[in-house]
Amino acid sequence: MPTITDVLLARNLLASRLPPTPAWSYPLLDATAGTRVVVKHENIQPTGAFKVRGGLNLLASMSARDRAQGVLGYSTGNHARSLAYAAREFGAPCVIVMPSSTNSLKAEAVRALGAELVEFGADFEQARVHATELAADRGMRLVSAADESAIIAGVATVYLELLWAVPDLDVIIVPVGSGSGAAGACLVAAALAPACEVIAVQSEKSPAAHDSWRAGRLIQRPNTSRVDGLATGSGFALPQRMLAKYLTDFVLVTDDSIAEAQHVLHTRAHTLSEGAGAAALAAVLADRDRFAGRKVAVICTGANATDPGR
Ligand SMILES: Cc1ncc(COP(=O)(O)O)c(C=O)c1O
Repeated sequence: MPTITDVLLARNLLASRLPPTPAWSYPLLDATAGTRVVVKHENIQPTGAFKVRGGLNLLASMSARDRAQGVLGYSTGNHARSLAYAAREFGAPCVIVMPSSTNSLKAEAVRALGAELVEFGADFEQARVHATELAADRGMRLVSAADESAIIAGVATVYLELLWAVPDLDVIIVPVGSGSGAAGACLVAAALAPACEVIAVQSEKSPAAHDSWRAGRLIQRPNTSRVDGLATGSGFALPQRMLAKYLTDFVLVTDDSIAEAQHVLHTRAHTLSEGAGAAALAAVLADRDRFAGRKVAVICTGANATDPGR
């Protein structure tokens, strides 16, 4: 499990590569949500998503020898883009295995960053199996989307920045696919703001992380959400161990409510988000009474939408 010291070290490693992202509030958005909302803008990262922090921290913490062998990842999108970006920054070879159903924009972006793209399988699980074999064949470092301490420590720097900028937050809401981001949020909030609640949100069409957290063991579930950043079919071990220790609550929202929240961010906070990037706001809008009168941070985790809404 990463520690808060790992997060502070990650922050130092990332400082020269990524400026802090802003955390803004918008009166129109507050009026719509019925409470004070702080939007943390990971949608403006160079890869369009918070995941870039994890990829950069992983590559930065590898030895020069391991980097020369290269990294191999499997992903439906932003994790892949993060690895490809970080590999390019560090001059390391990078191969990405993506299921053939992947959002074409995300696949194109990975190629544009110079990574080799291998399209394989109908879903994430088939891509994972193929990636594992390929990494062994080519002698490359296989990188999980979330069972990686360096990735969680890297993405956790979002929450250092957030809590340093806005120390009096009552709640932080984090969208979940694998749970790396929420695990990072929990770690940092426990150290810097123990009274601040951390609430995770996933789509009810892909509830594996949510159900794993509630059951206290890794569970597989149908995975049919159209919100690709949140679409995973099983819980991930390392983030789940951290969520079990620190997470306040885990809620589910519908894909339609996520689309509505995307529209609200667009029109009330002039913010472009992909579905996953709007899911935290969807959780607020779905339960206004719970959040009324509290200062709530929603993490706009990404902006790589193929269709930015109406
Ligand atoms: C934009 C966006 N938000 C949220 C998530 C979920 O993050 P995690 O897999 O760390 O739970 C992802 C995952 O790819 C994503 O791309």
